[in-house]
Amino acid sequence: MIDIHSHILPGVDDGAPDVETSLEMCKIAVNDGVTTMAATPHMLDGIHNVTRETIISGVADLQKRLDENNIQLNVVPGADIHINVDFINLYKSGSLVTLNDNGKYALIEFPPSTIPHKSDEFLFSMQINGVVPIITHPERNQSIQRHPEQAVKWAESGNIIQVTAASITGELGKEAKDCSMKLLEAGLVHVIASDAHSATWRAPGLSAARKIIADIISEEEAELATQLRPESIINGFPIDLPEPKKLTATTNKHWFFKWFSK
Ligand SMILES: [Fe+2]
Repeated sequence: MIDIHSHILPGVDDGAPDVETSLEMCKIAVNDGVTTMAATPHMLDGIHNVTRETIISGVADLQKRLDENNIQLNVVPGADIHINVDFINLYKSGSLVTLNDNGKYALIEFPPSTIPHKSDEFLFSMQINGVVPIITHPERNQSIQRHPEQAVKWAESGNIIQVTAASITGELGKEAKDCSMKLLEAGLVHVIASDAHSATWRAPGLSAARKIIADIISEEEAELATQLRPESIINGFPIDLPEPKKLTATTNKHWFFKWFSK
């Protein structure tokens, strides 16, 4: 399996605090069946001042430590880029890091509760500049939890949806789990990733979520979400996205309808 989203670089953001934790996280990933992992620190989030140079040199250092410790994991660079009006200028100036630094796909993170004004224009501007947006964990966004139909529009516009493995397993709470199930049934979970931040809480690993997808949808879909699409992303190859299915009838019901119908 290939994990396109993790915070395994030591001491750069709110992920691994030191190289020992990084190595521990990588071991957990390998034991779970992960062969390639993108190190994707937060970028442009207004909190962590992570530069392109930090990421590129950090990945090279971490790969060296993995090889020295005989941990069989391939680490590639990337970034968890907060949605930002300056994206295009920064991208063109070479300040950002796309996945595997190949200029084809970039992780885009939204705020936890809202969808900023003009987000659709932002995503479209990325696409016309040749970068496919991968929208990270929409199932954790409160606005998407209330209006998952927004994710249908994103997918129909050619954006890739990445759901966090721990949302599918329920470790990130009921709301994230319920929303991820709706997205899954509508064919909107294009990729799953760990978004791992530590070796304990929010640890690496995709296999538990992969099994749930295989059980609920199909083995083929599980393979697409954990291996085939991530592989195309890392290699910079195009991906044919499936046509989204209709969201289930209960999806858009207001909470009090659901409460009364219990
Ligand atoms: Fe992240």
